[in-house]
Amino acid sequence: MNWTDSGGRDLADFAFSYAPAKIILGGEHAVVYGETALALAIDQGIRLGVTRSAQLDGPVLRSVGWSILGEVRPGPNGAGPKVLREALAKLVELMGSGVRELLFTVDTHLPFGCGLGSSAALSVALIRSIHRFWQLDLPPAKEQGLAFELERIFHGNPSGVDHTVISSGGMICYRKTHESSFIERVNPKQQLKFAVGLAGAHVGTSRAVTLLKERVRRHPDVYGGIFSSIGHVAREMKHCVEQEKLAGLGELMDVNQGFLNALGLSTPKIEALCSIARERGALGAKLTGAGCGGAVIALVDSDPQMIVDAFMAAGYSAFAVASENIL
Ligand code: PMV
Repeated sequence: MNWTDSGGRDLADFAFSYAPAKIILGGEHAVVYGETALALAIDQGIRLGVTRSAQLDGPVLRSVGWSILGEVRPGPNGAGPKVLREALAKLVELMGSGVRELLFTVDTHLPFGCGLGSSAALSVALIRSIHRFWQLDLPPAKEQGLAFELERIFHGNPSGVDHTVISSGGMICYRKTHESSFIERVNPKQQLKFAVGLAGAHVGTSRAVTLLKERVRRHPDVYGGIFSSIGHVAREMKHCVEQEKLAGLGELMDVNQGFLNALGLSTPKIEALCSIARERGALGAKLTGAGCGGAVIALVDSDPQMIVDAFMAAGYSAFAVASENIL
């Protein structure tokens, strides 16, 4: 049976996908050096529609949420931000020339490039939409492998924590060595709520990682000690989550933020947002993701709106998010 929409168009010509955004509760950057990170999918993300047009010399990516995106197309008649054009070209390489006939429409309110995993969510959503459109099987390992190839276009040599938690959903402990990655599912007993404040665009994940690498090269033992402490903090955070010790979790977020500051990843705006949140009763606050700008997350045990309002009153963009999966 053929399903059609109200315009009589064959619905087999459309497919939709969704991928959540993420936050890293603890362990960002240290995870690049083999330590544990604790990350969770959140209740906001990217919706993607895909359709086919034989006239396209695509693939083409359009956005109804990201004004910076415009219309993106790779190839000689290319348009749009370079990194997105390269990601679309990679998609053709990974999935075949049929992708050239596809038109993708992104719908999201997520800020782009702020440490909330927008590029990994886009990568996962693109892979999911193509597989749905062509009705292909997509086992989790295959989804993660393909999404990682796209993430490498955005982030150079990512640890893999972003696309892994976005693909798996829920909350995970993630660790990667040279040989393999280790994923442990974490089961929070309650939904975690956060106020998010934006401390401006960050310098870009690969740039932040590269700059830190230069500092590490100068004083490997000093930074190595900080990384292993951060890994310890992330593992302690997992226990707090599992035992519903929210105050303990918040305290560890503050400790983690202190280490991130010591690594040179904080900024005056990030510190100001953390202070505002703590003064207004947040259980803890820290940057999330690459740092040097981007998002600050503040953990709350009540309505996050009061802290969101305080962030906005101080001139920052802000919004509330919560963990995605409740058991
Ligand atoms: O891309 P972001 O801002 O979500 O940061 C990713 C986390 C890092 O640990 C800084 C980098 C990585 O590859 O894990």
